Amino acid sequence: MRHNRFLVAVIIASGLAAVALLARPALMAANDSEEDDFYGLPNGKGRTEVGNYCAACHSLGLVVQQGLTREQWDELLVWMVEEQEMEPVPKKDREIVLDYLGKYVGPDSQKQRLCERGILC
Ligand code: HEC
Repeated sequence: MRHNRFLVAVIIASGLAAVALLARPALMAANDSEEDDFYGLPNGKGRTEVGNYCAACHSLGLVVQQGLTREQWDELLVWMVEEQEMEPVPKKDREIVLDYLGKYVGPDSQKQRLCERGILC
């Protein structure tokens, strides 16, 4: 009898382990695709706005690659409007976008991102 109980426990345990293993790739895939929508831009206030305003003409990959200060982003948006026919972003959203870019796509964050991948630490 005791022996049986042990067997039942083993069967339940391996069942749980199998479920965990099977569920893992699905969870990871969900995470990956969520990240992919934003080309690895970190989640934070303003990311949605950046997605809305900046993915219309080119991929967000172009944005992620940069490491600019808030001032430089500001100038780049002026350039985007004057030279690349971007619709000016309304003032309130422009501030949100610039705050986000300055904070998450600045020179330091760029270095940090590379370091997380084991490059230039
Ligand atoms: C109306 C279309 C349009 C919109 C909207 C737009 N861009 Fe651009 N952007 C361009 C064009 C065109 C280029 C030049 C691409 C090239 O040189 O190949 C460019 C280039 C860039 C570059 C690369 C500059 C370089 O050459 O190194 C960055 C960074 C960038 N855009 C950021 C942004 C951000 C941030 C936003 C949102 C606030 C945005 N763009 C919205 C049209 C747009």
